[in-house]
Amino acid sequence: MISNIFEINCININIIDWDNKKKNLLKLLDNYPEESKEFFHTNKHLPRSGLLPEFCEMFDPEVIQMQKETKMRVHIKDVWTVTYKENEFHNPHNHGHLGFNGVLYLDYIREEHSPTYFVCPFPNAMDDKSMMCSSDVYEGQILAVPAFLTHYTSPNKSKKPKRILAFDFNLVP
Ligand SMILES: [Fe+2]
Repeated sequence: MISNIFEINCININIIDWDNKKKNLLKLLDNYPEESKEFFHTNKHLPRSGLLPEFCEMFDPEVIQMQKETKMRVHIKDVWTVTYKENEFHNPHNHGHLGFNGVLYLDYIREEHSPTYFVCPFPNAMDDKSMMCSSDVYEGQILAVPAFLTHYTSPNKSKKPKRILAFDFNLVP
């Protein structure tokens, strides 16, 4: 018998009424412009105290859905956006050891843009190779993974920018 000792849980949520929500979200994000930072554009280093409460209000149904799925309370700690213009990318990184990191795929053309790549924290015991997988998502979906999970994106080969909204959260009983 073969069984798993450990597993890495992730949460996948479809955003309700995405077309309207996207319009409203883009309008909201006009107040939180991004700047060039490292190898991409973001507002993570800029003042954006109003974004967290407004995001929580706008995406309350999705947060409720996440709470239903996990049977835990979702406590969102931080929200920011990242845009990858042509050739921009994100180096491998993680978001600390506690909680989860969610990504809302805001401007995402599945056929043209890099998915998010995840690196397994342990190698394959049979061939000692690193294990990786990629996100299998569409625009208008949220994918949340444990904050410790290393992830990255490849350089954007499309002339159309890829944009995501990222948020860090804890699951609390
Ligand atoms: Fe990240």
